[in-house]
Amino acid sequence: MGAKSLSLSFQIKTECNVSKARSGLMKLPHYEVKTPVFMPVGTQGTMKGLLPDQLESLDCEIILGNTYHLGNRPGTDVLTKAGGLHNFMGWNRALLTDSGGFQMVSLLKLAEITEEGVKFKSPYDDSEIMLTPEKSIEIQNCIDIIMQLDDVVQTTFQDYDRIKEATERTSRWLDRCLASHKRPTEQSIFPIVQGLLNEELRKQSAREHMTKDVNGFAIGGLSGGEAKDDFWPMVSLSTGILDKHRPRYLMGVGLAIDLVVCVALGVDMFDCVFPTRTARFGCALVSNGQLNLKQKIYETDLDPIDKNCSCSTCTNYTRAYLHSIVTVETVACHLISVHNIAYQMNLMRTMRENIEKGTFPQFVQTFVSEYYADCE
Ligand code: GUN
Ligand code: ZN
Repeated sequence: MGAKSLSLSFQIKTECNVSKARSGLMKLPHYEVKTPVFMPVGTQGTMKGLLPDQLESLDCEIILGNTYHLGNRPGTDVLTKAGGLHNFMGWNRALLTDSGGFQMVSLLKLAEITEEGVKFKSPYDDSEIMLTPEKSIEIQNCIDIIMQLDDVVQTTFQDYDRIKEATERTSRWLDRCLASHKRPTEQSIFPIVQGLLNEELRKQSAREHMTKDVNGFAIGGLSGGEAKDDFWPMVSLSTGILDKHRPRYLMGVGLAIDLVVCVALGVDMFDCVFPTRTARFGCALVSNGQLNLKQKIYETDLDPIDKNCSCSTCTNYTRAYLHSIVTVETVACHLISVHNIAYQMNLMRTMRENIEKGTFPQFVQTFVSEYYADCE
């Protein structure tokens, strides 16, 4: 792989002998990241509800930024002047960015996709912007792991010809991204497997990406809330084709049950806005789902969110206190966000430890029975 290996090296530490789960170490220029890993999402160079030092004390080793947002504000000139996003936002550990197309298609109904790129109206000044594969790579300058620009189709979309076009265009855009990449020794580009829920297209996409000289792979097109029966087999099919010696990143997935199942299917990296977004609605993550702290039942409940959680929110505050401020004080969102990120980090750490001890199958059994405890 020549010089490229400097920007990312991935060592598998332990493999589960029942499932495809593995624990590993991903060495990046800014930090070494233990996998499987959950990456909290920051948008405009901040994590909603959390400061960089809080993330560090929660053991978070890598976070996600968004090209679409960073390209708009602060913009590439400010980022370059500041010496890159790490410096600009005060985060010294690893950073990954998404390429922008997905955010535009999901946020802006007005995005128009052509072979050249994705055209959209800036939400700030109404000007027209064309995000090409080359421009996306330029905006993602200074990041450790960056994503190719992909052609994203809404997951509920059923038209075969459009899904085929998007899958094949994603491969053509990958070639343009790789050709315009100027810093292969400092950063890695991940191709994104597309194909939505079509088995043949997804296989074709994964096989094509496998022929490229890249350090890892992303699996896209599966974060639209599809039924588990549709979505999990597509993950399995993708990890069955993608090289086992390179990290695999499942984009936009962060529900606990999906993290556990997809680690078992051989995924190493995840991101999702869900833990921080649900916190802003007053919902705290626990072993059997979520507590909606707005509910009146918590008015006099003097327990912490989770007795087994050692985060600063669970150490210092009760459910009753959080209930009393949840609709009136933004600090409630911060406190619940701290717990929710701690929950995700603890879950990933527990999975890594169980893979390493050889007890991952037993862990999955216990996790699933607790998660669905209320469904008996
Ligand atoms: N985030 C969640 N799903 C996707 C996807 O398919 N593509 C990109 N670029 N980002 C995503
Ligand atoms: Zn907690």
